[in-house]
Amino acid sequence: MSSVNIIYLNGLYKPVEEATVSVMDRGFLFGDGVYEVIPVFGKSMLRIDEHLQRLQNSLNRISLPNPHSNKEWVKIFSDLLEKNTGEDRAVYLQVSRGVYPVRDLAIKADYPPTVFAMVLPVTPPDVERISAGISVITVEDFRWSACDIKSTSLVANVMLKQQAVAADVDDAILIKNSMLSEGTASNVFVVKDGVLITPPVGHDLLPGITRSLVIEIAKNSTILVEEREVKEVELYHADEIWMTSSTREVAPVIRLNGKAVGSGVAGEMWKIIVDLYQQHKQRLRNGNVN
Ligand code: PDD
Repeated sequence: MSSVNIIYLNGLYKPVEEATVSVMDRGFLFGDGVYEVIPVFGKSMLRIDEHLQRLQNSLNRISLPNPHSNKEWVKIFSDLLEKNTGEDRAVYLQVSRGVYPVRDLAIKADYPPTVFAMVLPVTPPDVERISAGISVITVEDFRWSACDIKSTSLVANVMLKQQAVAADVDDAILIKNSMLSEGTASNVFVVKDGVLITPPVGHDLLPGITRSLVIEIAKNSTILVEEREVKEVELYHADEIWMTSSTREVAPVIRLNGKAVGSGVAGEMWKIIVDLYQQHKQRLRNGNVN
C-alpha cells in the first residue's frame, strides 16, 4: 500500500484523514446501508459483475436507488485503484441512505445517498499457511431473517464473532433451527463421501461470490455438488468443512467445538479446490478471466 490512503467519498477522491461523514448520516444512526467487498488481483476485479448484481439486489431489498450505473461503479473503482498502489487488494464500498436533517426512520426520496469506497490492503491467504486449518465453534444464529442483504447492520455478526474470540477459536459456524446457515462473515461447505454440500441461497445466508465460484470450479472438475439444507448434526460427521469468503478464500476447518473434523487436517478435496482457486487468481492477475 502507498503511505497516502486515497478514498472515494461522494464524487471526490481524497486522503482518508480528510474524509468525514455527518453524525446525521443514516449509516451511522441506523446502520441503514449496504456494502460490498471485491477482491482485486493485479488490475482485475474478481467477479465484478456478480458483486455489482449483489449490490443491486441489496439496494433493491432496502429500497435505496442505485446511485451509479455499473459502468460508473467500475470507473470509480478503477480510478481508486490507480490512485493507490498495490497488487492484490480489495475494494470496499458502502452506500448509506445519506444525511437527513432530523432523525426519522421513515424514508424520504429528497436526500442523496452517501457513497464511500476505499482500497483494503488484503494479504491473500498463503496456501501453505492456511493448509494448517482453522478451529471454530457452532453458535446459535440470532441474526434477523434477511441475511441475503449485504447490510451494514452487522452488530449481530459482531456479537457472534465475539463468542468465537471468547472461546479462543478462529471463527463460528451459525446454526438456525438446528440447520447450518453460514459463518460470521463467510459461507460454509461440507464434504461427505466425496460430495460437496452447501446450504442453498435464500434469506438465511449471504449469496457469497466466493461460494458461487467454488461451486463452479468444483462442477467443472466433475465433483458432485449438492445445494441443500444441512442439518447441524451433519457437521459432526463431515469428512471436511470449509469456510469461504472474498478475504478468507477457502479455509479448511480442522477443529469444530474442540473435536477434530475428519482426520483433523486439511482434506483431499480442499487441496484440489484450493489449487484450482489459486489458478483462477493467477489467470485473473494475467487479466484473462473475471
Ligand atoms: N463478508 N456471509 C457473510 C455473512 C459475509 O459477510 C460474507 C463476506 C460472505 C461471503 O461472501 P463473499 O464470498 O462474496 O465474500 C458470506 C465480507 C468479506 C466482509 O464482511 O468483509
